[in-house]
Amino acid sequence: MPRTPIPGVQNLIAVGSGKGGVGKTTVAVNLAISLARSGRKVGLMDADVYGPNVPLMMGVRATPHAIGERIQPIEKHGVRIMSMGFLNPGDKPLVWRGPMLHSVIQQFLRNVDWGESDYLIIDLPPGTGDVQLTLIQTAPLTGSIVVTTPSDVSLEDARKAIHMFQQVRVPILGLVENMSYLICPHCNERIDVFSYGGGKQTAETMNVHFLGELPLDPSVRIGGDSGKPVALGDSPGFTALAHEVERRAAEVSGAKRPVVEIED
Ligand SMILES: Nc1ncnc2c1ncn2[C@@H]1O[C@H](COP(=O)(O)OP(=O)(O)OP(=O)(O)O)[C@@H](O)[C@H]1O
Ligand SMILES: [Mg+2]
Repeated sequence: MPRTPIPGVQNLIAVGSGKGGVGKTTVAVNLAISLARSGRKVGLMDADVYGPNVPLMMGVRATPHAIGERIQPIEKHGVRIMSMGFLNPGDKPLVWRGPMLHSVIQQFLRNVDWGESDYLIIDLPPGTGDVQLTLIQTAPLTGSIVVTTPSDVSLEDARKAIHMFQQVRVPILGLVENMSYLICPHCNERIDVFSYGGGKQTAETMNVHFLGELPLDPSVRIGGDSGKPVALGDSPGFTALAHEVERRAAEVSGAKRPVVEIED
């Protein structure tokens, strides 16, 4: 299947992980906002079709409309967004099989009017399954970001995600260690809740770039739950991450890479 470019989209970046709940959506949302705040044109595609959390974290409920054949994304916090959560709001689960999933991912990529975008950030569901492969096989990804916590179980799954991207020749922009440590709000002592440093170590061992660490910070969770992500304010961690991501995206898009097909 060809990885046809998406007209107008300069950089297509997927945020993935092996494990669930490590902060992919949090990273995707705050990264998108940080980039938008620094003047970039940014889209955010929620590829977690079964468990779309982007609308809640971005604090937006809306129904997209189409102009002609083109679905118009919903804009919030300076970011253009598309999510299954707009099309299937509420708590009813989608009960879909593979082909439907494949088709909705294609529609989100190709039939949404992303306009001129410097970055289109894609929030992946956890794991290395169907959605990830569909996307990677068909989308001209500039690169991927792998999110992990420092715990061994998360790192084990992050290694799988790194291998998946490597197998299908998607450049890895780098590994982010999320929930690296907690600064106790009462005594200021640092607590390594999920251990510490495994992200950097794994990045080194696997020869991928380390994009940095993000502390476990209650305001990050509150920002996500209230639809006002921390990156809307001063957030040194996400500002630094956005900077690194921009640098790496420029680096890899300058590098030639072979396009390979993978077997179904
Ligand atoms: N650095 C952080 N500090 C505090 N809370 C965080 C941090 N990162 C993520 N969280 C919180 O952890 C929870 C899980 O994060 P998130 O939904 O981003 O993970 P995910 O990897 O996208 O999960 P899933 O695999 O289900 O898609 C959320 O409640 C989020 O607010
Ligand atoms: Mg998520």
